[in-house]
Amino acid sequence: MTPALLAEGLVKSFRDTRAVDGVDLAVPAGTVLGLLGPNGAGKTTIVRMLATLIRPDGGRASVHGHDVVEQPQQVRRLIGLTGQYATVDEGISGWENLYLIGRLVDLSRRDARARCDQLLERFDLVEAGGRPVRTYSGGMRRRLDLAASLVGQPRVLYLDEPTTGLDPRSRNGLWDEVRSMVAGGATVLLTTQYMEEAEALADNIVVMDGGRVIAEGPPAQLRAAVGGQVLQVRPARADDLPEVAALLVRAGLAQGNIDAEGGVVALPIDGEDQLTLAVRALGDSQLPVAGIDTHLPSLDEVFLTLTQRRKS
Ligand SMILES: Nc1ncnc2c1ncn2[C@@H]1O[C@H](COP(=O)(O)OP(=O)(O)O)[C@@H](O)[C@H]1O
Ligand SMILES: [Mg+2]
Repeated sequence: MTPALLAEGLVKSFRDTRAVDGVDLAVPAGTVLGLLGPNGAGKTTIVRMLATLIRPDGGRASVHGHDVVEQPQQVRRLIGLTGQYATVDEGISGWENLYLIGRLVDLSRRDARARCDQLLERFDLVEAGGRPVRTYSGGMRRRLDLAASLVGQPRVLYLDEPTTGLDPRSRNGLWDEVRSMVAGGATVLLTTQYMEEAEALADNIVVMDGGRVIAEGPPAQLRAAVGGQVLQVRPARADDLPEVAALLVRAGLAQGNIDAEGGVVALPIDGEDQLTLAVRALGDSQLPVAGIDTHLPSLDEVFLTLTQRRKS
């Protein structure tokens, strides 16, 4: 079966910046791909190419078999994209905006009304729904924008960092809406910097950094790829954090991530041998240690490890 989204060797440069540097993606219909990466990784550039807003410099991409460069009209009919403000009219109410969009995408009057009510509910806009959009706060406006991109229930939906700055209740509303669209057969490409969000929604995760894919797989597999556990050391004095990290490296362990606020150094370890090494090195150093623990990595830690591994 042709994947809903397919990218092969996608490349895009802006002057000297190779924003996307040879990316392959294959997203089966009815699944969610979480595209993770720090700022500047190239996530938005990929979304814009897949949405026919910019042309790739190299490689190819298609949506349900339609090439984004050769058949942009067919592609646009299939997709929905959040983060574009153009669709909303300030002078009329939120409800009227959603209704107009519903009618534009060929919903019957009745279906358009039902969809408006449902989306206003999801995004906590029931009370504001009757007021002109120009009276909305920034947060309300953002939620309406998200609702607007979902009215037509596109077969392929691009959500580019949709919950950045969203309150928890609306975030849950968005997640519920995404889940019900996927249950109805839609395909979602979700970019995010939040591991929690990727884990909550994504069937598969692609981690990007510097325009390239650095890891991919289902969330559980990504955790396993990083391997083992996370060792966390809490020196009695926060001033000792750099020294603790350095002595663990000298003992043959990985470069730790210093969390100055939390007062801990965290690093991946492979097993008991490495744990023993760490404990011995700490004992020899005679630096006072307030706590040591090991745990399975969170996706945040997986992500940090992956992006740091690349830089070292
Ligand atoms: N229109 C543009 N002109 C110049 N550079 C750009 C443009 N869009 C993105 N970039 C650069 O491309 C890289 C990837 O950006 P982007 O795709 O927005 O990353 P992300 O969405 O992951 O934060 C960054 O270095 C960014 O500065
Ligand atoms: Mg972006």
